[in-house]
Amino acid sequence: MKAKIILLTLIALLAANNFLPAQTSSNKMLVVYFSHTGNTRNMAEQIQKATGADIFEIQPVKNYPEDYKTVEAQAKKEIDANYKPELKTKISNIESYDVIFVGSPNWWTTIAPPVATFLSSYNFSGKTIVPFITHDGSRMGRSVSDIKILCPKSTVLDGLPIKGIYVKDANAEIIQWLRDIKIIK
Ligand SMILES: Cc1cc2nc3c(=O)[nH]c(=O)nc-3n(C[C@H](O)[C@H](O)[C@H](O)COP(=O)(O)O)c2cc1C
Repeated sequence: MKAKIILLTLIALLAANNFLPAQTSSNKMLVVYFSHTGNTRNMAEQIQKATGADIFEIQPVKNYPEDYKTVEAQAKKEIDANYKPELKTKISNIESYDVIFVGSPNWWTTIAPPVATFLSSYNFSGKTIVPFITHDGSRMGRSVSDIKILCPKSTVLDGLPIKGIYVKDANAEIIQWLRDIKIIK
């Protein structure tokens, strides 16, 4: 009887391990992202599903214009001026997270200004920041070095760039990356 209970417990543990998002550590994780046209949101949601992390969308108080030329010009001005737009909402319990995935579209080879506001708004010292970027050819650009400047006391990983048009079909690549960086089994 005792052996049967042990066996059943073992089977249940194995099943749980196979079917639940397989976190390899007890680290509490958060996925935050800004997305203007949906690519980075799609990538963020895939990371969230694979990890079971909490998720938070960075939203500026004033939405960016939809017209490409207009948003391009506005973003250039903001990035050149190191402008940090005000955000709609704050996270009250940021200190409870150990690993924070930070997602942004590549804007003029760096993170979008709302992401810079987010990173400047909290103390991330001792935390691990995992960047992910969607782009149209420039991959990570200088996003990682710019994130390191904003979070000098954090461990900032190299991160994953995915071209915007391929995000929908990139689930296997995202899962493999999460395994490589030992976030999931
Ligand atoms: C203002 C602006 C600037 C951009 N600058 C770049 C760039 O320098 N390099 C690049 O590869 N893609 C650039 N892109 C393309 C976006 O990074 C790409 O389409 C991204 O997947 C959009 O993500 P989203 O749908 O989450 O907003 C830019 C797009 C915009 C709107």
